Amino acid sequence: MSLTPDTFAWVADVVRRRSAIQLELGKEYLVESRLLPLARAAGLADVDTFVRSVRSAPHPTAVEAVVEALTTNETSWFRDAQPFTALADHVVPDLLAARGPFGVGPLRIWSAACSSGQEPYSIAMVLADLVPPTGMRIVATDLSQQMVDRARTGRYSQLEVNRGLPAPMLVKHFTRAGAEWQVAEPLRQAITFQKHNLLEAPPLGGPFDVVFLRNVLIYFDLATKRDVLRRVQQVVRPGGYLLLGAAETTIGIDDGWERVPVGRSSVYRLTARRAA
Ligand SMILES: C[S@@+](CC[C@H](N)C(=O)[O-])C[C@H]1O[C@@H](n2cnc3c(N)ncnc32)[C@H](O)[C@@H]1O
Repeated sequence: MSLTPDTFAWVADVVRRRSAIQLELGKEYLVESRLLPLARAAGLADVDTFVRSVRSAPHPTAVEAVVEALTTNETSWFRDAQPFTALADHVVPDLLAARGPFGVGPLRIWSAACSSGQEPYSIAMVLADLVPPTGMRIVATDLSQQMVDRARTGRYSQLEVNRGLPAPMLVKHFTRAGAEWQVAEPLRQAITFQKHNLLEAPPLGGPFDVVFLRNVLIYFDLATKRDVLRRVQQVVRPGGYLLLGAAETTIGIDDGWERVPVGRSSVYRLTARRAA
């Protein structure tokens, strides 16, 4: 282990200030393993030397690469299943019923912290069965430029496809691209990918009917969770929905949301009192 306490403290501080991700003491192994490839790519023997070189001449790209390397991009198709069932069986029918037969433009969805894209493409596959292709607009964002670029290509290895993508969905929405699979054009056209930090003002493309904010609040402290949820409220339509990860809730953090049990999970609805 080459990491000194001072190096760890500097990395934890820069990551917290730029992404709000908390790296508590004990996460030295994570910093070491995530930054070692960057050190090697820079021709340096160890992480401590690499961090010292970044600190001595802090270049925005190098600092950004450190922060990106400390993000956890774990994701899969239809992750946890229940939120996507809730979207199909409750959220979209409720939103469409509230609009009436003449509607008001496409359903607008924000997939915040979308990682490599499996979440927004899963949302698009659900919506494809419920609304016409012009009936959905999805904005998918992540802090990591690398993830955003990768998600935009819509290309996935067989191994990635095997993680939760039902065979009928593969047949219906993907084409072969060499050894990989690519999401078909109509779904890709429905999604706009962009880099976005949840610590900043929400992206353009709203107001949104639904926000997916899943498996990212877990990395933040309470004050940051509250700030992020407040900002999300500002871009959700009255009566719009928020879908969180299995280990996340608004309860005790932000009372602007009503918990709506759907099947074995819950979704959150913006309460009229707070609606903009
Ligand atoms: C574990 S993944 C979750 C992906 C997907 N939402 C899911 O549930 O499968 C967490 C993502 O949050 C992103 N992230 C972390 N901090 C962020 C921030 N401050 N702003 C935006 N995205 C952030 C990371 O880059 C990472 O891709």
